[in-house]
Amino acid sequence: MPEVTGARVLVTGGSGFIGRRLVAALLGEGAEVTVADLHPHPDPGVTSVVGDLRDPGVRERAVTAGLDAVVHLAAVTSVLRSVEDPAGTYATNVEATAGLLELARERAVPRFLLASTNAVTGDVGGARITESLAPRPLTPYGATKAAAEMLLSAYSGVYGMRTVALRFANVYGPGMLRKDSFVPRLMRAAAEGRGVQVYGDGGQLRDYVHVDDVVQAVLLAWRVDHDGPLIVGSGVSVSVNELIDAARKVTGAPIPVERVPAKQGEMPAVVLDVSAARAIGYRPRHDVTSGMATVWPDFAPSRPESAAAKSDTTEDDA
Ligand SMILES: NC(=O)c1ccc[n+]([C@@H]2O[C@H](COP(=O)([O-])OP(=O)(O)OC[C@H]3O[C@@H](n4cnc5c(N)ncnc54)[C@H](O)[C@@H]3O)[C@@H](O)[C@H]2O)c1
Repeated sequence: MPEVTGARVLVTGGSGFIGRRLVAALLGEGAEVTVADLHPHPDPGVTSVVGDLRDPGVRERAVTAGLDAVVHLAAVTSVLRSVEDPAGTYATNVEATAGLLELARERAVPRFLLASTNAVTGDVGGARITESLAPRPLTPYGATKAAAEMLLSAYSGVYGMRTVALRFANVYGPGMLRKDSFVPRLMRAAAEGRGVQVYGDGGQLRDYVHVDDVVQAVLLAWRVDHDGPLIVGSGVSVSVNELIDAARKVTGAPIPVERVPAKQGEMPAVVLDVSAARAIGYRPRHDVTSGMATVWPDFAPSRPESAAAKSDTTEDDA
């Protein structure tokens, strides 16, 4: 069984939301971590390769011989941005990934784990999404992640590298002050005594997975030597209305809702089958209420940073 303790690992995108949580967990497990990111990692104990991974020189510095694993999180993460800039999204999400894989092969890195997304599957109505459905992505974001998954499959097939495409659901948790997806939007609205806009009747179903459950899945996939795609969600879909009710419970704020017309092309339901992850021992620990309780302290009005961060948000994630 591959060991995480004592392993040398490169985490691309390790200064981001999921990355910071994963890096902390890896350090806690006794791994030796290098981060490659546009921004230095906040922990000075972590070696940072700072730069743009579209640049081959930055990739050269990041993927060194002797690594036991690459966890590749760096990406264009916004669907909206991918629609505005499909070519730029391709350069980051596909070309940079191909370059990292090739270096990993040349430098005999045995394992490559990619942060993918359930957006690779596309719209299947209300059907349960499993790993075996054919990918039919609907956006440049989903398409570039699907393309990256195909590259991983080839490197596994031909070169014997263990490659894992972790298909994350909507991830939330502590460390979202600079994010603008729906959970931080709810937290910000509660903190500022405002409401939120809801598209359509709010009945659309989504799977929200806590970042600590995501970290658990990454470590498990590594430890059991998993190869191939793996859906990482909570396994329980909730409606937008239910999510708002949970946010009201956690924050004590009324969070009034303004209903606006449904967006064209929005999926009515995302229902994920997490049985493959469960089969390797994955046990998601949070539901949306316990999970949002871990997010609220970042935003609660008593925290001075909560006000400072509200004008400096990134786009929505997928
Ligand atoms: N957050 C979610 O809900 C979610 C859902 C599905 C998949 N994912 C995937 O998980 C991964 C991490 O997501 P996140 O929410 O932590 O995003 P994030 O934006 O918080 O972090 C991404 C990090 O990658 C870095 N980065 C981006 N482009 C880079 C480049 N060209 N060179 C070097 N560094 C670069 C950024 O500086 C940032 O620190 C992404 O691949 C994303 O597509 C996230």
